[in-house]
Amino acid sequence: MNLSEIRIDSLKKIEELNSERDLAALKTYLFGKTGVLTGLMKGLKDLPPEQKPQAGKEINDLRVELMGLCEQKEKELHRMAIEQSINSQVIDLTIDRPDHAIGHAHPINQVRRRLTEYFVGNGYIVYDSPEIETDYYNFQALNVPPDHPARDMQDTFFITDNILLRTQTSSGQIRLMEKYKPPLKMICPGRVFRNDDDSTHSPVFHQMEGLVIDKNVTLCDLKGALEGFAKFIFGEETRIRFRPSYFPFTEPSVEVDVSCFNCHGSGCRVCKNTGWIEILGAGMVNRRVLSGCGIDPDEYHGFAFGVGLDRITMILCAINDIKLMWENDVRFLHMFK
Ligand code: DAH
Repeated sequence: MNLSEIRIDSLKKIEELNSERDLAALKTYLFGKTGVLTGLMKGLKDLPPEQKPQAGKEINDLRVELMGLCEQKEKELHRMAIEQSINSQVIDLTIDRPDHAIGHAHPINQVRRRLTEYFVGNGYIVYDSPEIETDYYNFQALNVPPDHPARDMQDTFFITDNILLRTQTSSGQIRLMEKYKPPLKMICPGRVFRNDDDSTHSPVFHQMEGLVIDKNVTLCDLKGALEGFAKFIFGEETRIRFRPSYFPFTEPSVEVDVSCFNCHGSGCRVCKNTGWIEILGAGMVNRRVLSGCGIDPDEYHGFAFGVGLDRITMILCAINDIKLMWENDVRFLHMFK
C-alpha cells in the first residue's frame, strides 16, 4: 500500500471503530514497533538521499493526522462507555428496603419532657442548677444546719467537708431566689446523688423541683397546681390527697398521693392495694428559707415541691427495677416508644 492508500484505509477503520479495545489494536497496527507507519519510517534509509526529506515529511504528516484522529476517537468512545454504564444502572427509588431502626428518648427523658411541658405551659421557667454543690446550698440554706437530724434522711456523697454531690434539686430554689426577685415560678430538673442502692434506689437519680413565690400564695394554690399536674400526667379522672409530713425547708409539709391510674382506687398491684400512689413531697416555703435568701416572709409566700422522675417513670411504665433504666439495653428501651 502506498501512503494515500494507507490513509484512506486507516480513516475508514477509525470511523468504523466502536470499542476502546479495537482502537488500541489499531494504534498498535499503525504506530507500534512493527506497525505500518513505523515500517515506512524505517524504509526511508533505503531511499536516494534527495527523496528522503519529502518522503519523511509526508509519512510524518500522515502519522500526526492519524494520531490526532485516534485521540479524538478515544475520547468519544470513553464518553460513550460512561453513558452506557449510566444507562444500564437504573436505580429504582420505589424499591422496598428494610426499615431503619429509629431511636427515641429514654423513658426518663420522656417523662421529664412531659412534666416540663405541663409546667412551662403554666408559666414556669426552667432553671438549671449545679450538680456539685456546697453544703450551704444543699443543706444550710434549706434550713438544715450542721448536726441537724434531717441530714440522716439523705446519705450524702461528700467531695470535701464542704463540697458534695447535691442530694436534692431543692438547692436550685436557693440559687434562684438569691439571683432573682419575686414573683418567681420555676422548675429545676436534674440529676441528684445519694449513697443508696437497691431495686428502687439508684445512687444517681432524677428530680424535678418546683418553686412559686408571690404575694398571697397559699396551700390551696399548691393543691391546684399539683392537681392540674397529676391530671395531665395520669389522666383527667385522677384525684390527689395531701398527707402531713416533714421537710426542713417547708412548713407545713405534705406528701402527695395520686389515686391509682390503674385500678382507679379499688386496689391493685401498682398501688399495693391502697388505691393511692405516693408521687412527691411539697409544702409552703419555710419563712427561714425565704429570709435567708433576702425575701421578706411577711410580704411574700411560696410553695415548693420535689418530684422523683425515676419514680414517676417506674410507675407509668410498670418497671419494678430502677437498674433496668440504667443498663441501656435497647431491647428494654424500645418497649417505651
Ligand atoms: N427535696 C426533697 C427530697 O429530696 C423533696 C422535696 C420535698 C422537695 C418537699 C420540695 C418540697 O421542694 O417542698 O426528698
